[in-house]
Amino acid sequence: MKIEEIAKLMVAKGRGILAADESTGTMGKRLKSVNIESNEKNRLHFRETLFTSSAMKSSISGVILYDETIKQSSSQGIPIPELIKKNGSIPGIKVDKGVKLLAGSSGEKITEGLDGLKDRMDEYYKLGARFAKWRAVYSISSNQPSEQCIKANAHALARYAAIVQEAKMVPIVEPEVLMDGDHTIDKCYEVTSKVLIECFKELKINNVKLEGTVLKPNMILPGSSCKKKANTDEIAKKTLDCLKKTMPKEVPGVAFLSGGQSEVEATKNLNAINKINDTNFNFTFSYGRALQQSALKTWSKSMEDTKNIQKVFDHRAKMNSASTEGKWEEKFEKNFAA
Ligand code: 13P
Repeated sequence: MKIEEIAKLMVAKGRGILAADESTGTMGKRLKSVNIESNEKNRLHFRETLFTSSAMKSSISGVILYDETIKQSSSQGIPIPELIKKNGSIPGIKVDKGVKLLAGSSGEKITEGLDGLKDRMDEYYKLGARFAKWRAVYSISSNQPSEQCIKANAHALARYAAIVQEAKMVPIVEPEVLMDGDHTIDKCYEVTSKVLIECFKELKINNVKLEGTVLKPNMILPGSSCKKKANTDEIAKKTLDCLKKTMPKEVPGVAFLSGGQSEVEATKNLNAINKINDTNFNFTFSYGRALQQSALKTWSKSMEDTKNIQKVFDHRAKMNSASTEGKWEEKFEKNFAA
């Protein structure tokens, strides 16, 4: 399949992406939060439970995997990428090597992982991956993000995207403006706009085909400790407006990260964006925490109760699926009992 076709499938209405690509360190934190030991067996067990749920076919277009998981096989001996394909979804892979201190900056971060990336992409292609992910992070404070941080990360994202496309895969370009801090929603709008403009400038310089690219941005939200909260309508309007002003029309769509929003908040906000969407872009989800939190809790209480864990995950995935079409309603959450 051509990368343009894969990108379209990844953001098609009614479905979205499951970000199950937590590094071993991050997954360790998630498991610790529910008092479960982080070992290879447990990490695989939880993920396999999600990958075999019925929502995979109906609501999940793609799954982002971590290096460990893409090389594992299920309890039935099926390689994980094959299991995902069998269940109706596209396997993808996180390829960045995490964030490091950006030299010359005052504590800002740069994402690493470009060295040897072409060889790694060829290996991942053989393992079945058809798209990749690279995440850059930007903190907001009085003097951050700096121009240096915005430029360095945009350049790395664009070089990554060009390499991924040469390996015949779709790059998910993820510039995440973090929610931490007390900044206002307008500050988030201003910073996200600058970050996105620079990213698209670099993607163009590096000859990245935008039709074969998926953008994974943050929504426009006030900082998590900002006193002035924003309502759903304001979040939706500002998010849509920011993307309309910064995204070239060739990009098929957006798959938002959840970035620390609660499960229901992330669903509600995406639903509101889709209700007012007057563009040709598709807006869907690529959630990690906002898709897995309740399922993880349920799993930690009774790891072998596959039916109940999958019921919880299926519900969340279906709620998000409805939100991609602006058809989610609050009452769907109240009627659901795990
Ligand atoms: P969250 O939805 O938990 O923010 O994770 C998405 C992701 O892939 C971060 O890189």
